[in-house]
Amino acid sequence: MVCLGNICRSPLAEGILRSKLPQDKFIIDSAGTGDYHIGNPPDPRSVKVANKYGLDISTQKGRQFSVSDFDNFDYIYVMDSSNYQNVIRLARNNQDEAKVKMILNEIYKNQDHDVPDPYTGGIQGFESTYKLLDEACQEIATKLHM
Ligand code: 4NP
Repeated sequence: MVCLGNICRSPLAEGILRSKLPQDKFIIDSAGTGDYHIGNPPDPRSVKVANKYGLDISTQKGRQFSVSDFDNFDYIYVMDSSNYQNVIRLARNNQDEAKVKMILNEIYKNQDHDVPDPYTGGIQGFESTYKLLDEACQEIATKLHM
């Protein structure tokens, strides 16, 4: 799960997808394309919304996306088109590129919708981010765990 800062959207996506798949069969992680929040916990508003839905994401730590993620993961879900460009820029070949997917295409096929960045807004943005990601992660979990 990849966003810009790895403190708002992708930590939520990581926590949500992890709650929907068996821990012994899937490795789920998140990262930011930027380096601003390396080592930081998720934004308190993401932690709060996750808590409301029974998820604890407070122990996650920000890290930056790196080329090795193409080797370590089968699927790379990005939150918006800017994340997409930044990750694709690091791809070494077609196989790397094929792993990168806009997460909302899971529920709005081929439409390339962004998960809006809630960072500069209020708690309501985090609530709607949660709902979008919950729907998308449900699709992913169903697809990967049949
Ligand atoms: P995120 O939101 O990409 O969903 O984690 C952001 C958080 C921080 C910043 C940008 C986006 N920032 O510029 O610090």
